[in-house]
Amino acid sequence: MTISITQLTEHIGARVDGVDLTSPIDNETAEAVLSALYSHSVLVFHGQPITDDQHVVFTESLGPLQMTMVNDPYGGGGPINVISNVDENGDLIPPDDSRSLYQAGNTLWHSDGAFKPVPLKASLLSAKEIPPEGGETEFASMRAAYDALPEERKVEIEDLVAEHSMAYSRQQIGSGIMDDAWLKATPPAHHPLARTIPETGEKALLVGAYASQIVGWPVEKGRKLLEELLVWTTQPEFVYRHEWQDHDLVIWDNRSAVHRGRPWDNGTYKRIMHRTTLAIDAS
Ligand code: OGA
Ligand code: MN
Repeated sequence: MTISITQLTEHIGARVDGVDLTSPIDNETAEAVLSALYSHSVLVFHGQPITDDQHVVFTESLGPLQMTMVNDPYGGGGPINVISNVDENGDLIPPDDSRSLYQAGNTLWHSDGAFKPVPLKASLLSAKEIPPEGGETEFASMRAAYDALPEERKVEIEDLVAEHSMAYSRQQIGSGIMDDAWLKATPPAHHPLARTIPETGEKALLVGAYASQIVGWPVEKGRKLLEELLVWTTQPEFVYRHEWQDHDLVIWDNRSAVHRGRPWDNGTYKRIMHRTTLAIDAS
């Protein structure tokens, strides 16, 4: 079977067919997947009932895997981040439990790992159990959004740097969601507001819920600009909305896409997803 790529919207998203992720892929296929990811920012693979080990093997065929952080209660330092509303006994976690609130951070637009000194390159999310309705994931192209900015806006933001903070993103959901050790292990990081993606030379905005302020600006003024740019980026024309099917695997490039999970009736239905991440390759 040969790999085929079908574009899903004008600016973001493509479906990939002809690849079986339960077996290791060859270099040529890995190159084709990466090149499609750089072009489309989000790749959808249907019908991939992969184990965690196969998920890790596939991730590593695309580049260096980034382990979860040891303080992350849903990763614990291992390769897989479990995004789920089900506890270790298979019971639903109540929606007002702090574990549910921490995961509710995913419903704010964000780019995974933007609060880290070296952010994450890409994320690979595998659907294990999905609710009958709701729980979609939306992706917005920070690259198309940058491209479409008026020229004077591009000039205005050219040299701006934003601060990104995990604590700031969780504060928008509620207080006491992160313990002290977790907070201490995730200090804020600074990144250019418009960053260049090395593989393509294209520029993309880096906005979302971790972006707390513009360095050197009064906090409120910076927040206003960040909010305006996020509203701009998440206009419908830059968005692909993924409605999950069982065994879907979706990859997104965190440098060119921001994403958010949509709500569902999480007091009634289980939603279980496993995620790996790709590190930004230093070479
Ligand atoms: C993630 C994430 C959203 C979702 O896995 O990084 O933000 O819809 N997920 O599960
Ligand atoms: Mn995320």
